[in-house]
Amino acid sequence: LGLSGGIDSALVAAIAASHRQDSPMSFRIAPSLLSANFAKLGEEVANVIASGADWIHFDVMDNHYVPNLTFGPMVCQALRKHAVKADGTPVPIDVHLMVQPVDALAQAFAEAGADWISFHPDASIHVDRTLQLIRAAGCKAGLVFNPAAPVDLLEWVLDKVDLVLLMSVNPGFGGQGFIDSALRKAERVRRLIDASGRDIRLEVDGGIKVDNIRRVADAGADTFVAGSAVFGQPDYRAVINAMRAELARG
Ligand code: DX5
Ligand code: ZN
Repeated sequence: LGLSGGIDSALVAAIAASHRQDSPMSFRIAPSLLSANFAKLGEEVANVIASGADWIHFDVMDNHYVPNLTFGPMVCQALRKHAVKADGTPVPIDVHLMVQPVDALAQAFAEAGADWISFHPDASIHVDRTLQLIRAAGCKAGLVFNPAAPVDLLEWVLDKVDLVLLMSVNPGFGGQGFIDSALRKAERVRRLIDASGRDIRLEVDGGIKVDNIRRVADAGADTFVAGSAVFGQPDYRAVINAMRAELARG
């Protein structure tokens, strides 16, 4: 019995892995506006979408949970109409809340047109309730884990989670170096997700560049935040294409 259980779970993992490898289009690249030109955010959103961005990553910092301050729901709402493809298809806005407390702002971002809303569990007193609130507001819900944070609580809320976001830098700033332990953590969370059989994205955020994105994918991630790597270069399309080429490499 033990043996057949082992074979079954190995089979499930193998099928899941082959799905990921068979469909490189299921990888998403989410440029982070944190490194965009804040004096022309609408244009930046339009340009990066025209250059192939799958999602727009929107970093919300409150100078409390993290030592930096960015933008709020009014800016998200103003950008919503710019986050569309040439044919009018909306591009998901992926809101990463680095704020404490969480609930009121999560609600405000849902009303401002966010599609995905993620928060750090250590910033919410009632994690399960916050997840329910985000979903009840019509958005997909995500949990974010800092480099030193354990992921154990996922066991208890996986049925209410649409996205796991692993930080590969300490949150607060763009342009930091990738912390390698995020790869081991991604492998662990990938196993959890596959074992659950649920449709849950695994996103990694911080220090992702053309030269390491493949390692992050090999660890099990399917969605990649890239701030300075994209907006730090004059040609966004060249960077996004180079990242896709790395992901598609056999
Ligand atoms: C950091 C933010 C990241 C940041 C990533 O707190 O959550 O999304 O923009 O920037 P890079 O890709 O430059 O590390
Ligand atoms: Zn982020």
